[in-house]
Order: sequence, then C-alpha cells, then structure tokens
Amino acid sequence: MTTASSGRRHLVLVGLMGAGKTTVGQRCAQLLDRAFVDTDELIVASAGVQFDDIWAAEGEAGFRAREKTAVADAAASPAPLVISCGGGAVLDADNRRRLRATGVVVWLLASSNELASRLVQDDSRPLLAGGDKTATLERLGAQREPAYDAAAHLRVDTEGRTVDEVADVVVEEFRAWNG
Ligand code: S3P
Repeated sequence: MTTASSGRRHLVLVGLMGAGKTTVGQRCAQLLDRAFVDTDELIVASAGVQFDDIWAAEGEAGFRAREKTAVADAAASPAPLVISCGGGAVLDADNRRRLRATGVVVWLLASSNELASRLVQDDSRPLLAGGDKTATLERLGAQREPAYDAAAHLRVDTEGRTVDEVADVVVEEFRAWNG
C-alpha cells in the first residue's frame, strides 16, 4: 500500500447512515472537479444485482466482504477521487488503514435525532428496518465511535446545515489539509 503524495489524496467521507456522505460527496466532487464514487454503488455494480438481494442472499458478512473489495478498489485509484463509504466500512481495520493511507478521511457528524429525521422516508437500510431509527442510530453511533475516530483525520458537524454548507466546509478543510 502506497501513501498518496500531497495534493493527490482522495477525499473520503465516513459517518453514520444519514450523515450526508453521498449528497455532500457529490457536491464536493463538483467543487473539486473530481470523480465521485460511493462504495455501496461499487458493490451493486460489481455484483450485478440489487443491494437488497446481496444482503438477503449473503447476509451482512457477505456484504462486508464485498465492501472490503470496493474500498480497496476505490482507494487504489490513481486519480484522486471523492469516496463516500457505507456507514459500516470503517469497522474493518484494513479498510481504515487503506483509506487513511490514500486519503484525507472526513467524519460527518449529526445527532441521532437529526440522522433519523433525514431517513424518515427511507427504507433502503437493512440495519434500520423494523425498529426505532433514532434508538438504532444512537446505539450504532456509540458502538462505532472508536472506529470513526480512528479512521478520521477531520470531523465536520452537519447538524442544521444544508448539503451545500457542509460541502463548502469539507472542501475548505480538505484543501487546507491536503495542500
Ligand atoms: C450501512 C450503511 C449503508 C450501507 C449498508 C450498511 C452501515 O450505507 O452500506 O446499509 O452499516 O452503516 P450508508 O451509510 O451510505 O447509508
């Protein structure tokens, strides 16, 4: 694994479901004039089947194995990218190492209440199916905090901010960090 030289690092977004990694990442990619990739989309594209079918047929363990390949593929891109990682990607130590070695990792934060309110109409996340979303996000946030903390170079609070506002902050901090 090589370490990216200054100015050529990926911008990597991590954080819980609903943190805005995909929407903010797409906006950051426009601002930085870079390609955007989302690890969930890479997984679906390479599997050739729907997200729900992967999870149903292979379970979370199968999904995580595919996610690890997607993270490695994205991190290995010679062109610097904006990479949105599925919320659980940083639980894997190899993923954390790869992302930190090749990118500047930004942790997008928001309260469980706000995350749940952003996802109120959204039934696409198996981990949030059939339960109280706020409580599940609160629990996942507590469990995952050490992993996000270990992965991240920077933290950006998204609470009460629009996608454009968050993207502006992320790009400013990324540029300051990335040289
Ligand atoms: C997950 C987050 C999802 C997706 C999968 C698992 C997680 O991605 O990878 O449902 O473990 O937090 P988003 O964070 O983009 O919603």
